[in-house]
Amino acid sequence: MARHLITSAIPYINGIKHLGNLVGSQLPADLYARYLRGRGHEVLFLCATDEHGTPAELAAAKAGKPVADYCAEMWEVQDKLSQGFRLSFDHFGRSSSEQNRKLTQHFAGKLFEAGLIEEVTEKQVYSNADGRFLPDRYIEGTCPNCGFESARGDQCDNCTKQLDPVDLINPHSTISGSTDLEMRETKHLYLRQSQMKDRLEEWIDTRQGWPVLTTSIAKKWLNDGDGLQDRGITRDLDWGVPVQRGDAPWPGMEGKVFYVWFDAPIEYIACGAEWVEAGKGDDWERWWRTDKGAEDVRYTQFMGKDNVPFHTLSFPVTILGSGEPWKLVDYIKSFNYLNYDGGQFSTSRGRGVFMDQALDILPADYWRWWLLSHAPESSDAEFTWENFQANVNKDLADVLGNFVSRVTKFCRSKFGEEVPEAGSYGPDETALIDTLTTRIRAYEAHMEAIEVRKSATELRAIWVAGNEYLQTAAPWSTFKEDPDRAAMQIRLALNLIRLYAVLSAPFIPDASAAMLQAMQTEDCHWPDDVHTALESLEPGHAFTVPDVLFAKITDNQREEWAARFAGTRT
Ligand code: 2FM
Ligand code: ZN
Repeated sequence: MARHLITSAIPYINGIKHLGNLVGSQLPADLYARYLRGRGHEVLFLCATDEHGTPAELAAAKAGKPVADYCAEMWEVQDKLSQGFRLSFDHFGRSSSEQNRKLTQHFAGKLFEAGLIEEVTEKQVYSNADGRFLPDRYIEGTCPNCGFESARGDQCDNCTKQLDPVDLINPHSTISGSTDLEMRETKHLYLRQSQMKDRLEEWIDTRQGWPVLTTSIAKKWLNDGDGLQDRGITRDLDWGVPVQRGDAPWPGMEGKVFYVWFDAPIEYIACGAEWVEAGKGDDWERWWRTDKGAEDVRYTQFMGKDNVPFHTLSFPVTILGSGEPWKLVDYIKSFNYLNYDGGQFSTSRGRGVFMDQALDILPADYWRWWLLSHAPESSDAEFTWENFQANVNKDLADVLGNFVSRVTKFCRSKFGEEVPEAGSYGPDETALIDTLTTRIRAYEAHMEAIEVRKSATELRAIWVAGNEYLQTAAPWSTFKEDPDRAAMQIRLALNLIRLYAVLSAPFIPDASAAMLQAMQTEDCHWPDDVHTALESLEPGHAFTVPDVLFAKITDNQREEWAARFAGTRT
């Protein structure tokens, strides 16, 4: 038994996330957490909302609410949706927590003592009409790179170039629209990432077997000179963690806050403290401090590819630079993008299917199965309604659902609602057990390597093997000439339902629970030995025929949903 710390990238607070966001971090992280728990490991799975910075302030202003109220409300919404998708976080925290404020200020103090924070007086855009500086998304103008007219102060959405507000042509305030802007001097803190280049490189080089996507992005940023430039880690904003060195004020930095990307990853740690505060655990340092027990913890992070630089470079600079024994990540699983029906999912343009809408039309398991079995691992992936319908209907309804239904109904009609006793295994059963053993070992290996698609493929093959056995064994025919043999076949098949429930739980937890409930068992033991696992439900054990596990998606539904989600969300 090992100890696993798992974090998912923390979603921005501004609005409901789409299915592309979900499959890029939270959902695969949940799959892994559920799998490891199922294997008996000790798991701490943390996630939170990312509440600071201009995205939160602007969204709150648009909603006409004080930003703290807006964040509190949106946290509730995201929390409820996480539960709806059965994301099994041990705690869903908030980056605006007291714990994160303290820790962020603590890290800043340590980095300052280590000489890794520099105070820089520089010129920033100031709006006379608004009476404030205009960082990041508070300013828009024409991109100097591609000519796009609505480029933001921190990045051009059209050509993705990272920008500085002073680079914009014809800039204006996004608050008032005013163009009465001037350059004013202001002081900011810079994290001297460049000083840490060699240590970071050394650390990344010792990370064995990281996905190519993760290391290639890290190396690119490390070596092309762009990524490891010193970074401004403070902003002239009201909403955020106030700039302090530990408990002490930071002279000259009054009224400023830390940049959202400085405090967000620190929330991974703070979330552990929030978990304890919420009474769900009693020792978070055991997970996060290598001097307090975390040296034997394996820490895995999940994220979309755009987040990789912050997790391979900036956050490790914070951790390593502090000189304190905090736990560093052991494995970073990153994802490409999921596209929607010929274009991109887009929060700002409301394009695609969002988490609330998805749950309005179908239960979580349908989405979980399709998204995970199509996870954008080696390249971008695409959601289409045709593919969704075809896969759900085939894998979940025809293969798994149908197996459960045929087996339980047949048994009820011929032997009653209990596991029949007669008969013993023949060559077909031995062959099936061999096949299942090979496939289950492969499934475990893929899950351990966090190869999400390959795991799904293997699980599907395990379901198919049961169906093929049933088809060949044909207990409905056997019953006529050899009822004892049919009894043995159906006893095995009923046990297979329990086995499927255990193996499938990480992907489709609700269906798994329904199968266990129908089999009236709480035996969730992992099938280390398939032969033994298929004897869990003993002769005479009562079961019930469950309701239809997965209803098929009809052509009408598909067409209706495709039309409903073709436009943009308002
Ligand atoms: O890209 C995003 O959605 C960010 N909110 C992720 C932050 S992850 C972490 F560093 F906290
Ligand atoms: Zn551009």
